[in-house]
Amino acid sequence: MNILVTGGAGYLGSVLIPKLLIRGHKVRVLDIGYFGIEHLRAMRPAVEVVRQDLRAMLADPAALDELLKGIHVVIHLAAISNDPSAELNPRLTEEVNFEATRDLAIACKRRGIRAVFSSSCSVYGESPDEVDEDGQTKPLTTYAKSKVDSDNLIVELADANWRPAILRNGTLFGYSPRMRFDLVINIFSYCSTLYNEVRVFGDGLQWRPMLHVDDCARAMIYFVENPGHKHLVYNIASENLRVVDLISIFKAINPSCREVYIKLENPDTRNYHVNTARMRAEGITPRVDIRTGAEEIIEAIVTGRIADPEAVYYRNAKWLKELTELGNKDSAGTVGMLDIMVAPIGSPGTGLTKP
Ligand SMILES: NC(=O)c1ccc[n+]([C@@H]2O[C@H](COP(=O)([O-])OP(=O)(O)OC[C@H]3O[C@@H](n4cnc5c(N)ncnc54)[C@H](O)[C@@H]3O)[C@@H](O)[C@H]2O)c1
Repeated sequence: MNILVTGGAGYLGSVLIPKLLIRGHKVRVLDIGYFGIEHLRAMRPAVEVVRQDLRAMLADPAALDELLKGIHVVIHLAAISNDPSAELNPRLTEEVNFEATRDLAIACKRRGIRAVFSSSCSVYGESPDEVDEDGQTKPLTTYAKSKVDSDNLIVELADANWRPAILRNGTLFGYSPRMRFDLVINIFSYCSTLYNEVRVFGDGLQWRPMLHVDDCARAMIYFVENPGHKHLVYNIASENLRVVDLISIFKAINPSCREVYIKLENPDTRNYHVNTARMRAEGITPRVDIRTGAEEIIEAIVTGRIADPEAVYYRNAKWLKELTELGNKDSAGTVGMLDIMVAPIGSPGTGLTKP
């Protein structure tokens, strides 16, 4: 099948795309390139890369037609993708995470293109009991609200002829060619390696559903390849645990590691654990546990595959703030600036494939 992956140059997309290629799919990526896109260019068979702002593509009917030409399934990952980045510019978050998602969903439905959307378990916000997909959503942040609004809108658009899949993913962890060190298990992995300590912000008693990035990619491919899925919305996670429960896993990996508690002025009230019966009934079984995922990151750090895990580049909110402060907020300008900034020295240039 021909698959368009929006936001495909990001943490999840960079793991998902090779898995799509292995299964014989053809891949086109649309990504503004906030975190670089060069790593996609080495993939074989070649991935078609469109470096553009999704909002600009949606505003231009001819460009949108070209972008969606020949596409069988859209996997929509493009987003301002965590709470602190989403708070930097709530209007941008609304535009990218909700409005662009809405317009893309409408464009897919009109053309009969199937779609898989990457939502988040953070839509449940604060939920004292285990929550399933029909449970109450309680978004506590701009990011979570943008995901709930998108989920609701997509469910409204769905009908017998257009049955998208909305995956409410747990907090991801694990190695990706476009690494993120602003996700709890990934942060613990580098801190335990560099400092022999894990830093727990607050009391660490908040529950979180966790999911290895490979397992998330595999779940997405399941929905690409199985249009007959029973429901529209699925919680996707391998296990629920509290942040404090991670400590023993990291101590088992590195016996020199100790925990450090850091007091927060504004404690994190997000606390949710999700039921995954629906996912399991589809036959989706996550394979990678937390220890294995942490060890692969630690090995990548120790062997120098991730040269500088403390670089601001691996932290979405800090990096986006830096880009914004460089003063180029308009989308075309940002894309142009990133072309210059992110291309590695001596690389042949970004050579856009126009849609
Ligand atoms: N990482 C997680 O723990 C997690 C958990 C649940 C859900 N999700 C969701 O999964 C998706 C992917 O997450 P990720 O961790 O890969 O995030 P990421 O930030 O690494 O990737 C997002 C990509 O979207 C691109 N993008 C942002 N704005 C764009 C725009 N206007 N036009 C085109 N491209 C744009 C960025 O350049 C980036 O490459 C997001 O929708 C995120 O909300 C992630």
